[in-house]
Amino acid sequence: MTTRRFPNDFLWGTATASFQVEGAADADGRGPSIWDTFCRQPGAVRNADNGDVACDHYHRVAEDLDLVRGLGVGSYRFSVAWPRIQPTGRGPANQPGLDFYRRLVDGLAARDVEATITLYHWDLPQALQDDGGWVVRDTAERFAEYADIVARAIGDGAARWITLNEPWCSAWRGYEVGDHAPGITDVGQAAAAHHHLLLAHGRATQVLREVTPEVPVGISLNLAALRSGTDDPVDVAATRRMDGNRNRIFLDPLFTGEYPADMLEHYASAEPGFSVVRDGDLATISQPLDFLGVNYYSPEIIVDASRLQAARELGYTVPTRRDGHDLDAVGVRSPGASVTLMNWEIDATGLRDILVRVSREFTDIPLYVTENGAAFDDYVGPGGAVLDGDRVAYVGAHLGAVLDAIADGADVKGYFYWSVLDNFEWAFGYSRRFGLVWVDFPTSTRLPKASYHWYATTIRANGIE
Ligand code: FCB
Repeated sequence: MTTRRFPNDFLWGTATASFQVEGAADADGRGPSIWDTFCRQPGAVRNADNGDVACDHYHRVAEDLDLVRGLGVGSYRFSVAWPRIQPTGRGPANQPGLDFYRRLVDGLAARDVEATITLYHWDLPQALQDDGGWVVRDTAERFAEYADIVARAIGDGAARWITLNEPWCSAWRGYEVGDHAPGITDVGQAAAAHHHLLLAHGRATQVLREVTPEVPVGISLNLAALRSGTDDPVDVAATRRMDGNRNRIFLDPLFTGEYPADMLEHYASAEPGFSVVRDGDLATISQPLDFLGVNYYSPEIIVDASRLQAARELGYTVPTRRDGHDLDAVGVRSPGASVTLMNWEIDATGLRDILVRVSREFTDIPLYVTENGAAFDDYVGPGGAVLDGDRVAYVGAHLGAVLDAIADGADVKGYFYWSVLDNFEWAFGYSRRFGLVWVDFPTSTRLPKASYHWYATTIRANGIE
C-alpha cells in the first residue's frame, strides 16, 4: 500500500448546522424558524420529527467541541441560527443568542480549532417568511443587517465566512419542489427567491468586507456533477437544462455577473420570476470572493422525462416519484450502482469532475469541499461499537477524488466531513445518520464511530492509504 499525501497546508475539517444539531428551540429568546413551522406540517418530516431537542448541542457545546478537537481538525464549520440573533428577523440583537456563539468561538479558539462560520443554513426567522420570505427583496436587506450584527459580535473569532449554504435548496426545494421549508410549490416564487438569495449573499459580502476586512468570504454551493444517461440528444439536452438550474444559474452570476440566457428564457413566463432583478444587482452578486465552498455527495444521472421507459430498458432504476421540478429532466440510478441510505449513487469521480470543471471554466479562487459524507444503516453492535466501514470506504474514495482534482489543477484547500454528529436530516428527520459520532437521540449520549477514529488517523497522517 502506498500513502497519498495532501498538501502541507491542507485544511481538515468537519461541519454541522444550527437547526440540525442545536435543539433548545425556545431557549434564551430564540424565535421560531421556517423549519420549526415546517416540522409541524403533517407529513412534511418523517416520523413528525422536529428540531426541539435535536442533538441538544446548545447545552452540550463543550463536549461536542472536545469531540471536534479529538479529530485533530484544523477547522470546524458551524452555522449561526438567525432566529437566535434576531428572533423576528429584524430589529436589535438578542444578546443571549450572541452569547452562545461567543462561547462557541471562544471554545474553538481554546482548542486551537478555526471557526468557519456559515451565516445561513436554512433556518429563516418565521416572521420574515410571514412577510414573503426570500420571494421579497426586503429579506436580502434584513440578511445584510443580520450579517452586520454577527460580524461585529463574533467576527474576531472567525477564520472564514460562508454567507449561504446551498441556496439551491433554499430556493428550489423550498419554493418549487416543496419538500423543504417553507414547502411552497411555485416556480415563479422559486426563481424570485433564487435571485434574492444571491442578492443577500452579495449584500452580506459587502457588509463582511467592511466589518471584518481580514476575514475571507465565500459561499457554499451544492453543485451537481451531472451525466447524461445516454448519448441521445434529447437526454443530453435535458442534462444541459439541469446544469442550467443547478450549476450555471449560480456560477454565471457569481463569476461573470450574468444569468445564463437559456435559464432566463426557460423561466421567462414564471411570475414574478427573474422580473425582480434590478439594475446593479448583478454587480452586487458578482463581487470578488476569496473562496468557493463545494458540497458534494453523489453524481446525478439525467434523462429526459419522455425517456423513462428507454432508461428502464437500459437497466437504469427510475424513481417512482417525480420531483415538482419543471425541467422535464429526471435523475435515475445507474445499473448496479451502490447507493447510500439516502439512495444516492456512490461515485467519487463526480467530486473530482465538479472541482476540476469549476476551476477550469469559472474561477481560480481557492476551493474548499465544505460538505461531503454519507448516511448508512449504522447500529451499535453487541460489543458497543459502531463499525461503519462503509463510511470509511466512502470518505477514503472521496479524499482520493480530492487528490485527483488537485493533480488536475484544481486549487482545493480543504475538506470538511459532513457531519461530526448524527443529526436532524431535514425531511428525513432523525432516520438518516451522517455522523462520525453516533448520537443516541433519546438520551443525547455521544459515541464516536469507527469512522471517527479513522478520520483522526487520516488527518494525523495528512494522507490516505
Ligand atoms: C446538504 C445539507 C446538509 C446536510 C447534507 C446531508 O444538502 O447542506 O445540511 O443535510 O446535505
